[in-house]
Amino acid sequence: MFESIKTLPADPILGLMAAYRADSNPNKIDLGVGVYKDEQGRTPVMRAVKAAEKRLLENQDSKTYVAPAGQDSFNQLVARLILGDALVDSLGDRRVTFQTPGGCGGLRLGAEFLQKVKPGARILVSDPTWANHIPLLGEAGLQIGKYPYYDYENHAIRFDAMMDALSQARAGDLVLLHGCCHNPCGADLNQSQWQAVAELALKNGFTPFIDLAYQGLGDGLAEDTYGVRLLAETLPELVLVSSCSKNFGLYRERTGSLTVISSNAESAKAAGSQIASTARSIYSMPPDHGAAVVAEILGDPALKTDWDVELAEVRNRINGLRTELVNALKAQGIEQDFSFIQREKGMFSFLGLSVEQVRSLINDYSIYLVDSSRINIAGINHNNLEYLASSIKRVLQA
Ligand code: LMR
Repeated sequence: MFESIKTLPADPILGLMAAYRADSNPNKIDLGVGVYKDEQGRTPVMRAVKAAEKRLLENQDSKTYVAPAGQDSFNQLVARLILGDALVDSLGDRRVTFQTPGGCGGLRLGAEFLQKVKPGARILVSDPTWANHIPLLGEAGLQIGKYPYYDYENHAIRFDAMMDALSQARAGDLVLLHGCCHNPCGADLNQSQWQAVAELALKNGFTPFIDLAYQGLGDGLAEDTYGVRLLAETLPELVLVSSCSKNFGLYRERTGSLTVISSNAESAKAAGSQIASTARSIYSMPPDHGAAVVAEILGDPALKTDWDVELAEVRNRINGLRTELVNALKAQGIEQDFSFIQREKGMFSFLGLSVEQVRSLINDYSIYLVDSSRINIAGINHNNLEYLASSIKRVLQA
């Protein structure tokens, strides 16, 4: 049965983690996988997470099953974190939210649900998008199409070309949008661009599918939800996936959510029943721990405030590093303009290097980044900044 199976290459992002760990160069830098790192290069457990875990250890008195939808308190608190109280209240029973095994689990559960209720539906994704969007959505059976998004020359959004492509989308089609901190390019829609997308969706009837994996890492917890909230209040239907991997630092605990907003309570209830049955047929129920931690934090004003403060530290550090990287590259005397890095948001930006230049950074300098030249800004610190900037200069001049 297994003799003729072909070995697949390593995952383009996760493969870098293994290669970095195996590298013995003391100067090595990990700018690959999107994981936050502090000045010491550590990915710490957030203070509020530790406190919530202590409480759970003390107080949790059962490990019995929860439900395919996960823990209701998590679902309601996360919906309020993303959409805000007023919108959650006004949507009422038009919204259902499910706890999922990470954002990936939410994307796949959403795609499997859509494939059940609308087999072979078309989903347009930005060009470029996060590499794992394609298998997560496509292997469920959705038909993947693309819309233009990033202009590599000018480091800006190709908004006219994007809107031209989206104007072909109709009712029954889905459009995947990054809620904030676009992965991989870091270029986000501004408020008037979100408004134009909302108007087009309303006019032509396509359904946006938002992936919100970095709430709080761009401009702020509420600021980063401008687009999500606008679409949720404007449109009759919306699919929304969120992740707690980055903003709660819960990566390995696999904590995320899937929200479906429907035009009326009855169809939302029907969607909820389909999603529950879909979850049951894939993994039965999501893991509990990460969601229990998040519910503990969001349900306790003191823990929530402390989390908010630490998340602001994370955000400010990343935004500060963006400026420092631009300055360090300038200080090397590199002519190329890297100032766009300062304008982009979240963990990622493209350096704008060729695959050969990326390979040289990896092989000759032990600086790990994705082939597209996407870097994780959070992997930079004051010990490696100089070495990074001078190595980039060398590969540019080679
Ligand atoms: C990334 O893009 O690096 C992160 O979202 C981690 C992952 O799973 O790829």
